[in-house]
Amino acid sequence: MGMGIRITEDGPYIVTGGVPIYEKRIVKRDGVYVWEDGRELPQSEVYALCRCGRSDNAPFCDGSGHKRFKGTEKADRSPYSERAERLEGAGIDLMDDVRCGKAMFCHRHGRSTWDMLKDSDDPDVRNELIRAACECPAGRTVAVDKDGNVHEDTLEPAIYIVQGPEPGRSGGIYVMGGIPITSVDGEVYEVRNRVLLCRCGASRNMPFCDATHINRMFKDTRGGSFLRKKD
Ligand code: FES
Repeated sequence: MGMGIRITEDGPYIVTGGVPIYEKRIVKRDGVYVWEDGRELPQSEVYALCRCGRSDNAPFCDGSGHKRFKGTEKADRSPYSERAERLEGAGIDLMDDVRCGKAMFCHRHGRSTWDMLKDSDDPDVRNELIRAACECPAGRTVAVDKDGNVHEDTLEPAIYIVQGPEPGRSGGIYVMGGIPITSVDGEVYEVRNRVLLCRCGASRNMPFCDATHINRMFKDTRGGSFLRKKD
């Protein structure tokens, strides 16, 4: 079976095709956010990833937590090019669909991607802006030259289980490299290089992460700590 992710009704994501899976922490180093290795996760041909946030075997589904979970998909399915706004910069433009998981890669050396737009005729600022746009795991931002050339890194298909950037908190599921994601109703979402799926069970834009996990103080252990805020 080829690589793919199938969303099940009020249940887990079924991942097929031996997609490599890694746990990664987002940490700030020298003014930029970077990925750091987390726990080693078992690799297999087919696996089920928790979507409700309550598994005791996170990031994998343990079959128990989602019994009361409602995972109705609400996200707009129109293509990124239609949903995103094109923001004009001095030297380069930025596409932005506001689909944010607060992974923070859009902040580099104290400046945000949007703030850099106005000085992006400076080659150094332009390069920083391109890095910031390309590293957003949610695929929210895409840097586009004035002649329409799109900047996008070549990413091998893989899944990152996100931890951080807030210490001790968990984030979404970074799906990279164009792995197709199939809805409960059988429709395939637009295939993209970078997509961030929700795994806390609380997004208002399912299946995608909308950063609700931050307010819920989501931690992917012991059945999801947003149920136990005193943890
Ligand atoms: S993991 Fe981000 S909103 Fe659920």
